[in-house]
Amino acid sequence: MSKKRRRLKYFLASSLLILPLATFMADMGFSKSQPQKARTIDELIKMYDSSECIKCHVKEYEEWKDSLHAKSLIGTPRTLGSLRTTILNGFMKEQKFSGVKSVEDIQVKHLMQCFKCHLPQIEDATDEVAKQIAKAIIDLDEATLSKLNINCLICHNKKAIVHKWIDGEPEKNVIYGTKDGAHPYDKYPTIKKSAIMKESVLCGQCHGLGPNFEQPNPTQCATLYGSYLHAYIPSGGTKTCQECHMHDSKKGHKIPAYRDPEFAKRAVDVVVDVAPYFFLPKAGDLVPTIPITVKITNKAGHRIPDG
Ligand code: HEC
Ligand code: HEC
Ligand code: HEC
Ligand code: HEC
Ligand code: HEC
Repeated sequence: MSKKRRRLKYFLASSLLILPLATFMADMGFSKSQPQKARTIDELIKMYDSSECIKCHVKEYEEWKDSLHAKSLIGTPRTLGSLRTTILNGFMKEQKFSGVKSVEDIQVKHLMQCFKCHLPQIEDATDEVAKQIAKAIIDLDEATLSKLNINCLICHNKKAIVHKWIDGEPEKNVIYGTKDGAHPYDKYPTIKKSAIMKESVLCGQCHGLGPNFEQPNPTQCATLYGSYLHAYIPSGGTKTCQECHMHDSKKGHKIPAYRDPEFAKRAVDVVVDVAPYFFLPKAGDLVPTIPITVKITNKAGHRIPDG
């Protein structure tokens, strides 16, 4: 056999070995372009585990723990109730083309109707996890659902990049912040500057522009970012969400709104002008008259109420 043919044979034999191995590795999620998806609720929680951040960031953690972002599937607790109604009365009844007859039919694409903003990491889980979460919602299993939320790694990793064709997908072991540097935590040893960490668009990704037309069944739960862009900014507003809600509020990661009495005071200016006088339509008939002018100025960076 010539040297050339022997080499060709070797190449064929080795590629036969490599091909199935590559297919097997891709199936197991080792492929670079398709990271492995979480197959259980616990795997999804682990994928975005922020529990150790408290070791070094006590202030940020304690503030966040009290925020609604920390209970984004439970809320005040109106969210949990309305998620349950969406599944039982929405997917299973009213939305008759949803393909959902029972909880077994629920897939990630269904939950995206709400989870696009209430739990965006569902994208990184299999349809099996969608069913498990849907069951937990129907059973009002708060213990499980309270572990699924908008935590540190959702803002400081998953949602930290919007222009993915310029900046790429968020990298796995990187914390995105306001500057580049080293991070003294072995699971996330690097900090990279996110172009949007101090920009309103970070928040706008979930605080809504209007109906979510990319969904097969659009909802409009929160549309506040729309009014920020189209009303506040055009009328000369200059502040970002972070400036008003995190800095001026002095409450950082608690990110308060009207439920916080101190922050609610910043919402409106009310000026009341009263000019009482007596009206004399005919002699001897004095009518006390009080014209009242009330001027309410919205000082928030958007329409209120909204979300
Ligand atoms: C809703 C999005 C969001 C979540 C959730 C979030 N962060 Fe942040 N974080 C921000 C933004 C935005 C900034 C930058 C604020 C600025 O400087 O204008 C920031 C800044 C920081 C900083 C820099 C110092 C500071 O306080 O400004 C640290 C540290 C930090 N975050 C840690 C955390 C930790 C730890 C968690 C989880 C307990 C967390 N963050 C959760 C949005 C978030
Ligand atoms: C062992 C301690 C430690 C742990 C654990 C830790 N951090 Fe940090 N982190 C730091 C230190 C120290 C800095 C400041 C680095 C600097 O300024 O150079 C920092 C900086 C940051 C910043 C600010 C980046 C910026 O904008 O300047 C963010 C955001 C952050 N950490 C998020 C997290 C998150 C999220 C977790 C959990 C997944 C976490 N950290 C866990 C020590 C820690
Ligand atoms: C990943 C999606 C997401 C991102 C990013 C996000 N939010 Fe939210 N935010 C939510 C959801 C969902 C809720 C409501 C949770 C609930 O009650 O069910 C919420 C609630 C709030 C509230 C109401 C708090 C209250 O106590 O009434 C404020 C204010 C707020 N977010 C501001 C911000 C700001 C400012 C940013 C950017 C720094 C931001 N959010 C980023 C999804 C997000
Ligand atoms: C100029 C300051 C300012 C800016 C900028 C601003 N907000 Fe607000 N926001 C407020 C004040 C004040 C309130 C409290 C009003 C109320 O809810 O009664 C509020 C309320 C809210 C609420 C509660 C919703 C409601 O119906 O009252 C959310 C959610 C919120 N803001 C998110 C955001 C997000 C996201 C951005 C950026 C796109 C943003 N805010 C920009 C000042 C601001
Ligand atoms: C475009 C993003 C987005 C989508 C999609 C979305 N939400 Fe929301 N939702 C939010 C934000 C942001 C808030 C916080 C607004 C606030 O606090 O003023 C919120 C608040 C809520 C609240 C009130 C929270 C409370 O604690 O009182 C309920 C209930 C709710 N959402 C249910 C749902 C349900 C059910 C779906 C799906 C049918 C859904 N949302 C879809 C972003 C969204």
